[in-house]
Amino acid sequence: MKRVATMTLSLGVLCAAYGANVVKAVKVRSLHGLRCGAYLVRKYAHFTPVVLYPQTTLHLNDKKANELNKDAKAIVAKVAAFTDGKKVAIIVHWPDRSKDIYKGYKSDSYPDGFAVQFAANATNPQKLPYIGMGSDGRAVEIFLRKAYGQSVYEPNGNGDVAHQVNPHNTDYFGKELKKFEKEVQKLGVRPYARAFVSEGFRSMTEIKDGSVTWRSDMCYNTKRHIWGGMVIKPIDDAYSKAAKNELAIAVAVWDGKELQRDGLKRLSSWIAVKLPHAKNRALEKVVSEKVRGDVAEGKKQFAANCASCHNDKDFHNAPIYMAPDLSNVGGQATAAYLRESILDPNAVVVPGYNRNQHPSYAWYNLKNGKRVSIMPSFSYLDAKVVNDIVAYLQTQKAEVAK
Ligand code: HEC
Repeated sequence: MKRVATMTLSLGVLCAAYGANVVKAVKVRSLHGLRCGAYLVRKYAHFTPVVLYPQTTLHLNDKKANELNKDAKAIVAKVAAFTDGKKVAIIVHWPDRSKDIYKGYKSDSYPDGFAVQFAANATNPQKLPYIGMGSDGRAVEIFLRKAYGQSVYEPNGNGDVAHQVNPHNTDYFGKELKKFEKEVQKLGVRPYARAFVSEGFRSMTEIKDGSVTWRSDMCYNTKRHIWGGMVIKPIDDAYSKAAKNELAIAVAVWDGKELQRDGLKRLSSWIAVKLPHAKNRALEKVVSEKVRGDVAEGKKQFAANCASCHNDKDFHNAPIYMAPDLSNVGGQATAAYLRESILDPNAVVVPGYNRNQHPSYAWYNLKNGKRVSIMPSFSYLDAKVVNDIVAYLQTQKAEVAK
């Protein structure tokens, strides 16, 4: 293995405990041609377990999917990274009993998929973007890949309208339709892989102008029922940069069998990827902070101050559209984010539902074009009380599936 000659073999921090969320990037000479199931990955990746929790912030308008995901459990993924000094490869392995590949235009089937997200800026780890989507002024760069059985045909404005239509809407039938589908497949140019920049729900914008050179890959291990996913991107690009040789990333996966798509997925909390020469420990501390506090007292305080708006695993009294469901917030948010949410709700305003669809439950109001949360600040609470509430919120997470 000549390619890995310059690999650093130091074991570094051993992160056996779930939730430590620190990944040490392995230095390699080249990432050229690397695929997710490659020997290099199997042999030299330093995998860190990372728990992915069901996302329950928003209530989806799909009865069947909601039913299927009602008591969804968390899963343990493994995340590793390689770097050649210029680019970084993020590798994710996650368990999934069935390989669900999108075929044709079946409207009720969804593919498995994964996404890796990079904080645009992690210089201040106390103020990371809203997990999964980014937030105003705190952008994220997202790389998404779905398991499509075929390449996606994108006419890219070349005027080929005839091949863009859904086969169900063509006049073709039987043999003719098969022929048409084949033709479209032949025109398919690339897998379903997309990059976005986002500053919150409904602000996702696809990067289509080629300003980032990246690629991705997926591979399924049929024997072990494990998906592998890989994203390779420049360490620094137009939309996200390393801060002192560290990257803040997050990982999401979709299970097609559970009808997961869009916001219905499993999502990690922030993960610190340490590149070679990363000496700073600020980000590492933030992503693995476990708050010591009086959880029982925190629960009481939550009942008194928060449960009129928020539901979680213990409280179900608030209308479901009122405020984000916090049942998995302890698995997806850092303690720093939880503290900030309580003391300064306007620092990150979760945009929530379309205000026109649920007008009585708008999560924010607009003041001079700025979003102002309807959640009051609790900065008047005693520091100890806030700490207890945060300790309680950290217990809010689904169990890990066996
Ligand atoms: C008047 C209703 C209301 C009350 C009371 C309230 N919240 Fe909120 N909370 C909201 C709304 C609406 C949002 C979404 C908008 C935003 O981000 O501020 C939110 C957002 C949050 C978030 C961010 C959720 C996410 O998905 O990132 C957290 C954490 C949170 N609240 C915790 C609390 C805690 C803890 C309390 C009690 C100390 C509390 N809230 C009291 C309405 C409320």
